[in-house]
Amino acid sequence: MIDTLTIRRPDDWHVHLRDGTMLEAVAPYTARQFARAIIMPNLSPPVTSAAAAAAYRKRIMAALPTDSNFTPLMTYYLTDDADADDIAKGHADGIFTAAKLYPANATTNSAHGVTDVAKIMPVLERMQEIGMPLLVHGEVTDGDIDIFDREAVFIDRVLDGLVRALPDLKIVFEHITTDQAVQFVASTGPNIGATITPHHLHINRNAMLVGGIRPHAYCLPVAKREQHRLALRKAATSGSPKYFLGTDSAPHEIHAKESACGCAGIFNAPYALESYAAVFDEEGALDRLEGFASLYGPDFYGLPYNDERITLARSVSPVPEHLDGSGTKLVPFHAGSRLQWSIVPS
Ligand code: DOR
Ligand code: ZN
Repeated sequence: MIDTLTIRRPDDWHVHLRDGTMLEAVAPYTARQFARAIIMPNLSPPVTSAAAAAAYRKRIMAALPTDSNFTPLMTYYLTDDADADDIAKGHADGIFTAAKLYPANATTNSAHGVTDVAKIMPVLERMQEIGMPLLVHGEVTDGDIDIFDREAVFIDRVLDGLVRALPDLKIVFEHITTDQAVQFVASTGPNIGATITPHHLHINRNAMLVGGIRPHAYCLPVAKREQHRLALRKAATSGSPKYFLGTDSAPHEIHAKESACGCAGIFNAPYALESYAAVFDEEGALDRLEGFASLYGPDFYGLPYNDERITLARSVSPVPEHLDGSGTKLVPFHAGSRLQWSIVPS
């Protein structure tokens, strides 16, 4: 039985760090574990210029402990009016690592998202040309589509056509939640990858709805049936370089979650790596954690591996019921339970 595991320091290829006091409260949790992270641009207002991204990056750095060695990788929020030249310049200047496609009104702060992918084809063509990755929130928003089907329908109505039209565009299908998404990604070339969250590996939709409505298990895309969770676990632990770590940690204050209309998002940053380690351990795949957490993401993005190492040990991490920070009360994923792995302080 493996009791300790030393791997290259991992990166988080999808995280919401927010802004203001929330940023101050949550950023240190991500920086504790990860060397780099892809920072989501769905602030209010969204990050739609290089100047806004550079200023946000500064605020992130200011929110970190001074000894922190963390690099935020910024993203551009695509709108119907996105300008290919601005994006290409921001990418060439090293400000934007990638651009994010939110279908309009798919999730938190996505009202300015893209209403029809056809409207941004010139931008996507340019991104293909310059090798800039497109990060996709893969859900349709059509009112006639059941919320549990929105990801699968997105593949048929949008993503499949996009991959055919722009066969060399690098695309990350973000936070996949279905067997259909796993299969789709598996059927495509190496320029199509996917991130998988800890929560979608741990919970199915029962966690949200059995025994009462549990808002802290609600996120988008919403957790699906057990068969899908099992498909995600298989993909994540398969050793395929197409699937890599992206927490989608998405904090909301407790009152915004525990509400008649609760916000979507699971705050998993505080124990993300311990949470993934539990899954890989349960699947007998601890030897594959490093690929998923620390190698396949950099491979996809064309970035170097981190030189630093991090050690995990089989020892209990008790997860508190809630965390406080900057006057903000937050409920972490796994609140009140005990994870069987811990990060050994370096
Ligand atoms: O659950 C989610 N929360 N899904 C998203 O896509 C956005 C995120 C947020 O920003 O709160
Ligand atoms: Zn997200």
